[in-house]
Amino acid sequence: MSTIGIIGGTGIEQLPGLSVVREHAAETLFGAPSGPVQEGLLGGQSLYFLHRHGGPRSIPPHRINYRANISLLHRLGVSRVVAINAVGGISPDMQPGRLLIPDQLIDYTWGREHSFDDGSSGSLQHIDFTEPYDRELRLALVEAAERAGIAHEPCGTHGVTQGPRLETAAEVRRLARDGCDVVGMTGMPEAALARELGMAYACVCMVVNPAAGLGDLPLTLDMMRHILEREAGVVRTLLQTLLSNLSAPAAEG
Ligand code: HPA
Repeated sequence: MSTIGIIGGTGIEQLPGLSVVREHAAETLFGAPSGPVQEGLLGGQSLYFLHRHGGPRSIPPHRINYRANISLLHRLGVSRVVAINAVGGISPDMQPGRLLIPDQLIDYTWGREHSFDDGSSGSLQHIDFTEPYDRELRLALVEAAERAGIAHEPCGTHGVTQGPRLETAAEVRRLARDGCDVVGMTGMPEAALARELGMAYACVCMVVNPAAGLGDLPLTLDMMRHILEREAGVVRTLLQTLLSNLSAPAAEG
């Protein structure tokens, strides 16, 4: 069975229900990861968990060492990564509390270390990123959401902006024209780095606010945290169902 790693974002500092058996804190060739990776059991299934914003002093999206995080998970033997991302909702059906399992992304980030390839290997690395998320893992998430009765959107486009500021209303209108259904700040280069190392990677976006210019209230971190706290149980149920589906022996065909 392949080893699962979960990367938690804002509001998912701990994985609810995870009983931790070990912590792995290690430097990598690319520097220090966001924090120790927890190895533990969720509903009897083993997994690794990393909080991407790090310990008590939160690392902002543009300063996260994505290469170190992915590299450490890879070294621990993780072959499938499920990333949890808090996002703003753009499409009308992307209201706070909604889950999206995106099938596409648009990368608007800049200035981040976005590849393991520093040109020293002597061969060029151009990963195929037509489908940025692993299809099988994505479908496993969709199936888990269906089985657990969790309302979700099974596909959509995740726009990833640089942050740490939120967008202007005009930027959100442009994202909407580009076809983005949600907007977050941490989906890239994480997804591409995982692909470079041959790890299956899929993402669960939790809508925590209407994107800038689309709601009536000013956007605050408290508003986002409130939704995340309210929906933490849903994320746990989704992950538990996913893990038990993935560990179940395949039906004879
Ligand atoms: N924009 C970008 N990132 C976010 C948002 C948003 O509205 N909400 C949560 N993360």
